Amino acid sequence: MGADRYGHQEERRGAQLAEMLAARLGFSPKEARQVKIAALLHDIGKQKIPAYILDKPGKLSRCEFEVMKTHTNLGAGMLAGVQGEIGVVIRDVCLLHHEWHNGAGYWGKVSAELPAYVPVVSVCDVFIALLSKRTYKQAWPVGTALDYIQNRAGTQFSREVADAFLALIKDEGGILCPPWL
Ligand SMILES: [Fe+2]
Repeated sequence: MGADRYGHQEERRGAQLAEMLAARLGFSPKEARQVKIAALLHDIGKQKIPAYILDKPGKLSRCEFEVMKTHTNLGAGMLAGVQGEIGVVIRDVCLLHHEWHNGAGYWGKVSAELPAYVPVVSVCDVFIALLSKRTYKQAWPVGTALDYIQNRAGTQFSREVADAFLALIKDEGGILCPPWL
């Protein structure tokens, strides 16, 4: 993976946040751990997306975006052999983590159609991506990223998930401290 890709530290921090958010939303410790594992693996399908698309400094063309979208089903396919409950959770999260609450995401599903653990990973993934530098964007300040989540409550994220996420960061903001940032 190139330096500008989703790095190890980011994935770990996103997974840690997802586990904490799941617990806050009432998931059992076992379920929250499953969410954490799924969050660690959710973008594994990007390994099969060409570097020129992943690292493109500008906006993706329509065709490139269609290729990018396939990292979801490619990831679910790569993890097809994972048995049991955890396998289902991981594959759901791989496949559906770009869905929006209002159905405006990759595959047009609304959040009522998604397993409850999927939006938990999605909001953490978006937040971590906003805070991170990419070839096509600068790292956003924490406050701006939190405003983004707040402003998208009811569209990209359900109000329940967005509110729980904002409360989590308010209470546990230390998780975002350097050297990670
Ligand atoms: Fe993704």
